[in-house]
Amino acid sequence: MRKTIQQLQNSNKPLACLTAYTAPIAKAADKHCDLLLVGDSLSMVLYGEDSTQKATMSMMIRHGQAVVRATEQAFIVVDMPFGSYEDSPENALTNAQKIMKETQCQAVKLEGGKAMAPQIKMLVEHNIPVMAHIGLLPQSVSEVSGYKVQGRDEDSAAQLMLDAKAVEQAGAFSMVIEAVPEALATQISQAVNIPTIGIGASNACDGQILVTEDMIGVSDGHVPKFVKKYANIHEIISKAMADYATDVHARAFPSKEKHTYKI
Ligand code: KIV
Repeated sequence: MRKTIQQLQNSNKPLACLTAYTAPIAKAADKHCDLLLVGDSLSMVLYGEDSTQKATMSMMIRHGQAVVRATEQAFIVVDMPFGSYEDSPENALTNAQKIMKETQCQAVKLEGGKAMAPQIKMLVEHNIPVMAHIGLLPQSVSEVSGYKVQGRDEDSAAQLMLDAKAVEQAGAFSMVIEAVPEALATQISQAVNIPTIGIGASNACDGQILVTEDMIGVSDGHVPKFVKKYANIHEIISKAMADYATDVHARAFPSKEKHTYKI
């Protein structure tokens, strides 16, 4: 049985959440996580794009289907890609319905605070559960603004508090809070009654989420300060490939005994 919104909201333990874009990763994470997010970060992590703005509806749907198919108990959320919801609540509804129908996921996530409240309200009124996302909004990051901690001064902290209250009021069942200082994450988590899921937003949140490929070290590139690396998969993959190439070059693979068919 999959986790329900009620179970997520009433959990007496912090919620363990990760991103998942593919069936094998989703299957491994399903045993351990409360919620899996098919994040639009897939455009950067899987497709090597320079921004999450490059994710498309068809990418999100295809990967959403793979993750739903591979899982049994985790609550699955699919990101609404850039350009699929911002223009109008009506457009958001059409695209959210398509994602829900074609992937059979449990909810969608969209980025933005008070400005996106009408979109959230519209989806919730049409029985589509919404996870909000406030703080650092990767879809809005430009080369100029860069990836920066949000809510460090009084005005922007006050704005983020308004955003948190607005998305709760609009009916979001939970919200991601990205890259905000601990003091503000604490205040927001205490001020709202829905679970706050932090990424770079301290232990004060009601749950945590990380990009799986970052926390298992798939790439040897830079990861943000808030990521804890639980494994170094890049090193394991790299060594396995080097050993394979050495074997092939030396005709040590395939071996006659173990890897070769006989008549
Ligand atoms: O797309 C994503 O991976 C996300 C997480 C950073 C929360 O939105």
